Order: sequence, then C-alpha cells, then structure tokens
Amino acid sequence: MPSPQPEFIAPGIARFNPQPEPSLALERHWPSLGPLPASFRTIPAFSHEDGRHVARVALPPGTSLYGTGEVPGPLLRNSRRIVTWNSDRWCYGDTDVSLYQSHPWVLAVLPGGRAVGILADTARRLTIALDETIEIAANPGDPSFTVCIVERDHPAAVVTALADLTGRMPLPPLWALGYQQCRWSYETEERVKVVADQFRARHIPCDVIWMDIDYMDGYRCFTFSPQHFPDPRGLSDYLHRRNFRGVWMIDPGLKEDPEYRVYAAGRDGGHFVLDEAGREYHGRVWPGSCAFPDFTRAETRRWWAGLYTEFLEAGIDGVWNDMNEPSVEDNHQKQVPETLHHRADPELGGPGPHSKYHNVYGMLMARATRDGIAAARPRRRPFVLTRANFLGGQRYAATWTGDNRSTWEHLAWSIPMVLNLGLSGQPFSGPDIGGFAGDATPALFARWMGIGSLLPFARGHSIKDSAPHEPWSFGPDCERACRLALERRYRLLPYLYTLFHEASTTGMPIARPLFFADPADPVLRSADDSFLLGQNLLVRARVAEEGSCRAPYPPGLWKPVEIVGDSTTTTAHPDLPDLCIRAGAIIPLGPIRRHVGESPDGPLTLMVCPDARGNAAGTLYEDPGDGPPDAPAHRLTTFTASPGPDGRPAISAIHTGDYTPPRGHVGVVIV
Ligand code: NOJ
Repeated sequence: MPSPQPEFIAPGIARFNPQPEPSLALERHWPSLGPLPASFRTIPAFSHEDGRHVARVALPPGTSLYGTGEVPGPLLRNSRRIVTWNSDRWCYGDTDVSLYQSHPWVLAVLPGGRAVGILADTARRLTIALDETIEIAANPGDPSFTVCIVERDHPAAVVTALADLTGRMPLPPLWALGYQQCRWSYETEERVKVVADQFRARHIPCDVIWMDIDYMDGYRCFTFSPQHFPDPRGLSDYLHRRNFRGVWMIDPGLKEDPEYRVYAAGRDGGHFVLDEAGREYHGRVWPGSCAFPDFTRAETRRWWAGLYTEFLEAGIDGVWNDMNEPSVEDNHQKQVPETLHHRADPELGGPGPHSKYHNVYGMLMARATRDGIAAARPRRRPFVLTRANFLGGQRYAATWTGDNRSTWEHLAWSIPMVLNLGLSGQPFSGPDIGGFAGDATPALFARWMGIGSLLPFARGHSIKDSAPHEPWSFGPDCERACRLALERRYRLLPYLYTLFHEASTTGMPIARPLFFADPADPVLRSADDSFLLGQNLLVRARVAEEGSCRAPYPPGLWKPVEIVGDSTTTTAHPDLPDLCIRAGAIIPLGPIRRHVGESPDGPLTLMVCPDARGNAAGTLYEDPGDGPPDAPAHRLTTFTASPGPDGRPAISAIHTGDYTPPRGHVGVVIV
C-alpha cells in the first residue's frame, strides 16, 4: 500500500510516510515543497505484518547496493542483511550484522548508473535486507517510520544530497590529517615520551600520540593516574615542544564512587540514566560498577561539555570517546538493558526507553564532547573520535572501524569499510593500522601502513599484550616501508586537505569507490582493493598475502606515479600500493615533513599529467590549518595547464579567498 501523501522536500528528494517522531539524523526540519513530481520513480510501499512495520523499495535487476554505514565484509552489499543496533563487536567477522554505529541508509546504483538513496528516518532498531527489493523492517511493536528517497543522475550526487539532509563533517585541524600513534596503552608518561622521541629520531612522520584508558586514576574519566601520569600538563608540553598533539580517551561509564567528584556531581545533578524503577542504573565497565550520563538531556550534555574545561587545561588537544554504544561487561552481548529509562528532551522525542535512544547514545555523547571542547577553546577546531555513532554523526566526530584483528582478511576490509562509511555520510574514518588484536607480521604491517596511510584517518593502534606495533617494531625493511608510506601521506597533504575541505562543504567522500568514475560500468562496482582519492589519484593495493591488485582500472588514462624515493615511476617499496594519476589532472604536493607544522613555507610541487590535448587542471585549498571553525581565512586556487609555445605545459593559477599562504618555491613535475 503506497503512502497516501508523499512529499517533495528538495530537488530530487521525497519524504514518504511522515511520522510524528522527531528525526535524530536530519540536520533540520525539511519543509514539504508540495506534491511529488511525476518524474519521481522510486516509491516505497509500506505495510504492517506480524506486528512489524515494513517499508519495501523495489529496484531494477542489476542494481548494486552500498552504504548502511559501518559494516564488515566487501564493498558491494547485495544479498546482505544488517540490523541497526550499535554493538561492541570485538574482532568482528563477516557475518556480524551490527557493529558500533548505525546508518539506516542505502545507496543503490541502478543499472544505467543513475542512483537512489534510501534513508529510513528512525533511530530505532531496524532490519535492512539488501535484495532487489530492499526491505526495511521495524522491531515488533515499534512505530512506523518515515522514509526519504533521493533520486539523482550520479551516486556522488546522492551522497552530497545525504550531506544536505544530515549535515557535513566540520573541517578538522590540519594536525588530525597527520599520522597518529596509539596503543592500549602507553602506560606511563615516560613510555609516551620514548615513543614520540623514536618517531623523531627515526625520521618517521607523525603528529599525534594517543592516551588510552591507563592514563586515568583507576579508570575514572577526567582524572590522571598519580603513579603513571603524575604530570599530564608536563607531558603535553613535552609533546608540543616536539610538535606532537595528544588525544586522550574519555568513556561514558563513570565509576560509582561517592569520593569521585565527577560521579558525585553527576549523581547530585541527576544526570544519569535510570533503570525501569527510576533508580540510577549501574553497569560494569573498566573501573567496576558505573553510572552513565543521560545524553538525551540538553542539561546533561551541558554538564558533560563543562567537564572538558578543566580537563583540557592539561594541554589535551583532542578527545577519544570509546565504549559509547554503550558497552558493558554484564552480558555476552555487552548491552545495557533496553528497558532503561531516558528523560529525553521533547525535541528528541521525550522520555522513553533505551531501545528508543540506544543508537544515538554515542552520537549525543560525541556532540556534547565536541561542544565542550569548542566552548573551552573557541579559537581552535575541536577534534573528537568516537566509536559509536549514528547517521549524521559526522557533524560531531571522526571514527575508526573498531576492534579489528591482525589478519589479511581484516586488512582487506579496511578499504570497503572506509568506502561504505564515506557513502553513508562519514568521510573521516580509518582502521586500526596493523590490526588491533593479535600480532601482525612484518609483511602484513607494512601493507597495512601502505593502505592506511592513504585513508582519511591514519592511526596505528594495538591491544594490550600484543607484540609491539610501532612502525619500527617489525625490522628495518618494514620500518622503511612505513617511513615511505607516511612520507607519501605527508607529501600528499595539500591534496588531502583540499579533499577534506571539499568533504566539509559538499559531503563528498575523501576516499571514493572506483564506480564514482563511471557508475554505468558494472565491472567497477565490486572493486575492493582499489579506490580513488578524490577524482585524480588512484590507489591500487595488494590486500592478500600473495597476488596483485585485482581491481580493473577506471575509464581514461591513469599514469603510474611515485612521489617519494628516487624513482618517479616505480613503487618506492613492494609492499606499498601503486599510485596512478588521472590524465588531465594536477595534484598539489608538499615536501616530506616529520609533522604538519614543519617548514610551512616548504616548496609546493604541482604534479601535472596532461591529457591527450596537453591540458590538465586541479585545485588547492589552503588555510592556517586551525583557528576559529567558522569561515576561516582561506585560499582556493585553481591551476590549469595548457600546451605552451615550447611544447611544455604552461601553468596558470586563479585564486579566490583572503589567505596568503607562506609559500616557498613552486615547482612543476610533468608525468
Ligand atoms: C575498546 C576500543 O575499541 C579500543 O580501541 C581501546 O583500546 C579499548 N577499548 C581500551 O580502551
């Protein structure tokens, strides 16, 4: 039974079956612009079967399905089933239907290359079956839900329409694009300093060192271990003097300890989630019995945000929100009871059970964290990493793909997982490079660094008791591969930052699937071991221990290039992915740097790959790399190359914007 009153809410976007429940994903209220245009082809059907509300969207044979956010396994999602229910899945496998984040969103690429986006506008649990007819079913007893459909000529346009609906990633500080080193845990201040010093001594580029839970005093959030981290400000100063930033973990579970002032303040302020009987709920996490802030209340979010003022005085640069599905040790599923009670504000939907708010708990925590950092440091861009999130959560935090394993299979999933997150509105993600659980081998680690250094969020991380997983831990050859991989990333920073800027303004993913180059070509639709960085750089990786990249090339001419080492044509190390530039492109490159702030006036190199007519073009976004988030001083340059009188390409540049970068020499390399 089709919905009686479909509404056209923006060009190419229609809303079906509008429901009174407020949206938690959409950035604003979208007014109805009137009746659906006759050209609109994708009309969902709604039914009520066995107590479940179901929406079905029929698509033509030959449609390829993507999206649904953070999902393990291959890029192509046809014949898969997912359940939107944020879940702590340590060492997840291909058959897991739920991971840490939920994105009730499907991108369907039709046989001819046109694309359709399907957004189920509810934070409640859904089962989404990705078949020729996409079936989205609510839980028995849950209310019906709104469905938004986007129809566009190209999948990229559907993804930018998703960003119009759910918001965009704010531009992060430039340092967050640098390489980041993490471990659960660098257990003492001394150990952190040694790791930082090793990066500099070994000339391996790095910008950030991460502090996992062991910096805390007995796992109490917002405290520091008097034995192991007695002087956090001193540690931050040490890192800053060496041009590192520090990101520190904050979990939602607060130890139930009346002597612990954060817990006591939360209890006295009535900030915690309640059980069915109206008592403060307690679940077990690292410090034992914990209470959980009720982030569905603006008052609680304000309280939480306020906690960061003093915390950041320790010189903390960014915050990592973990375990915020929320995850507890009380049962095998690591879930809190669905019957818990949230005193949610009316604009979120009013008081209700945890089942209604479970999927947005992590997103609301990240939002409060971001607000706290922004309020404490209004002149700097906040950086938050969150494990749990929801559709639209790119507005608040970056993410990583959770607790993967040091296996070739998990290495291979790094690419499709990041691509599907990008197709679901979250451009800023990456895997734990090297694998979180287990011990990598030198070859696996080198390959992972090669790939991970080209994904938007590049951080190495590993579990307690695993073998050391720093770039130098696997012998000199692997260390060399890692150095070269990271030197590549740092040379590419001008290009990457330009892509981050594009993502923050249009919602375009930074890492894109090959089919963006030609959505009509079916052979590009399942490429898992190759991806595009922007439009102009192709990455071809080897994700299996043996063998080569299996992906086809996108249309047009792609020239192999190397940007570090002695050679300009061969890959600098056999474990690194091959890079190819698109004929007709200009890619801006910086110098090799040890951190993003080094030699800001270092040379800019334009890597020019003329097309058959001798023309090429490219863009470069520049700004100070940090500063007040709104409307920073910036400069956008469009470079064009055309055949010059001497046969060599003549380059011209057109600038817009009010920023003058500290520019050194500008060189040109023709490939
Ligand atoms: C779980 C996270 O996924 C992992 O990255 C972290 O190291 C541990 N929690 C400990 O905090």
